[in-house]
Amino acid sequence: MSEQRSIPQHVAIIMDGNGRWAKQHGKERYEGHIAGVESVRRVLRAAATTGVRYLTLYAFSTENWGRPVAEVEAIMELFCKSVVGEAPELVKQGIRVQIIGERDRFSERVLEMIDKIESTTLKGDRLTLVLAFNYSARREIMLAMRSIAQRVACGELNVEDINEQVLSEHLMTRDIPDPDLIIRTSGECRLSNFLLWQASYAEFYFPETLWPDFDEQEFSKALEAYAKRERRYGLVIEDSKA
Ligand code: FPP
Repeated sequence: MSEQRSIPQHVAIIMDGNGRWAKQHGKERYEGHIAGVESVRRVLRAAATTGVRYLTLYAFSTENWGRPVAEVEAIMELFCKSVVGEAPELVKQGIRVQIIGERDRFSERVLEMIDKIESTTLKGDRLTLVLAFNYSARREIMLAMRSIAQRVACGELNVEDINEQVLSEHLMTRDIPDPDLIIRTSGECRLSNFLLWQASYAEFYFPETLWPDFDEQEFSKALEAYAKRERRYGLVIEDSKA
């Protein structure tokens, strides 16, 4: 396998275990999220250095609104602070930030920060950091179907022309390639409404490590595990090497 193919183009991460980490350290849950931002920094740096082109992080699911108000506010605050604090460094490193998710429930301030980070980093061409923020894969697919149905209803699209590519083009990830590797930290082995359509042929990696303890070495172990996988896409081995 060539060096090029053994490095995933797109890594997506479910950053899990902040709450358990906080409990283990006798801290409040929000402190686990603060420590989680440090891991984001480390992994982003490691991904950019290794040649990964897209890094998607599940920062806040639509279901997360059901958490205690103080915790939700702490995560929103962390997002805003990170945007203000990190923007110059992201620009310097050539990192573009794209946010996927629904924007309807965010405060004015969060919306402002989303616009700010997306516009200031727009020209970054080294790595795209995709933040899934108020994201739900089922809602993403439902919204895509709704907009396809609208296009059919107004005669813009024929039913016979609906195919997988058309559906992909109506998702929030329309400009982003499917993930090659999905990591979920903390030993949990499920997708939790994350990139359900896009994950069809992704490789999965489930380390026991809690997200705040996930570092460059852990990231590199994940890439090593990925490099050993044989991706067949439903073909037989000889065909996949063709
Ligand atoms: C899951 O751990 C983590 C989250 C729901 C939030 C992740 C958010 C951050 C790392 C900070 C904000 C991100 C950015 C990019 C500014 P959990 O709380 O479910 O942990 P537990 O399962 O141990 O309770």
